[in-house]
Amino acid sequence: MKNNPISIAPMMDYTDRHYRYFMRQISKKVLLYTEMVVSSTIKYASKDGRLDKYLGFSPQELPLCIQLGGNNPQELGEASIICQDYGYSEINLNVGCPSNRVQSGAFGACLMKNPNLVAECLLTMKNKVSIPISVKHRIGVDDLDSYEDLSNFIKIVSSVGVNKFIIHARKAWLQGLSPKENRTVPPLRYEEVYQIKKDFPHLNIEINGQIKTIQQISTNLEKVDGVMIGREAYENPWLFSEFDTTFYHQKSNPSSSREEVLLKMREYPQILKNLHLSPHSFIRHMMGLYKGIKGARNYRSFLTEKIQEKVTNEQFLNEFLELNSKFSKQ
Ligand SMILES: Cc1cc2nc3c(=O)[nH]c(=O)nc-3n(C[C@H](O)[C@H](O)[C@H](O)COP(=O)(O)O)c2cc1C
Repeated sequence: MKNNPISIAPMMDYTDRHYRYFMRQISKKVLLYTEMVVSSTIKYASKDGRLDKYLGFSPQELPLCIQLGGNNPQELGEASIICQDYGYSEINLNVGCPSNRVQSGAFGACLMKNPNLVAECLLTMKNKVSIPISVKHRIGVDDLDSYEDLSNFIKIVSSVGVNKFIIHARKAWLQGLSPKENRTVPPLRYEEVYQIKKDFPHLNIEINGQIKTIQQISTNLEKVDGVMIGREAYENPWLFSEFDTTFYHQKSNPSSSREEVLLKMREYPQILKNLHLSPHSFIRHMMGLYKGIKGARNYRSFLTEKIQEKVTNEQFLNEFLELNSKFSKQ
């Protein structure tokens, strides 16, 4: 299978199904990721009929990779079968999250210290399903952060046949830094990711960390197989507006203006009418749509106000489009 060169990173509280549906009005092609779902959550939810809460998505969101968290090979293998049956395109294992909650479960970034266990988890997952399996990890953790350590991790993990690695080009400090600080304080070390691609040319190597512009994406795609974008995709979704034509040779992009995105989102609550969505559940993800253009602040305050007023969807979206037409005349 040919690798998808651009993806939107898994982000807890951000990349839920509503955000992903919204992004699909801007690019149909980039690979989307879910938030991390812990394998034990899937296990328990499968027993009491709550799987949809954690795994449900709209077909429009495809191609879609689910990110799993966990360290129990058997449980991850069983969760993988359920995810494949749900229709996900790929499954990714989280070996990059440094939060205390995740560390107390002994998974996420601390698994970088145990590449053999990561390999065992991935092998079990791979043997259970036919869809691609990948791993997202850091460049290193704590004092285990030399190039040799990174290279050793990839050598062991790839030996079980996993061939897609998404490398967040910063190490993580497991003690003393919050998850947020772990995304800003440790310096970016892109060169090591490029070196991994040179040393493991047969593997799909993707780079992640602070990539924010089309120029940066293009430059990176000359050196590695893929680019994953996190915060910028959330804060500035319109960045992706020409990706389908620029990077995927499509004849057109899904929406030619921000207003078109809003018009499409007006249909969304109707599409998911069984879920009885509150406006807040999807409007909150649309805050960045006008980033960088005149009137963006008015747009954001309008959204915040409406979320607080708890207006109905239809009322909200009609008022919203009216406001938007004012922006477009400015
Ligand atoms: C709010 C937030 C939540 C995140 N949650 C996850 C997660 O669930 N799993 C994961 O692997 N990374 C998570 N990350 C890290 C991102 O996937 C990404 O690796 C990181 O933000 C660096 O990329 P960026 O500089 O393009 O944002 C999260 C990041 C943010 C900002």
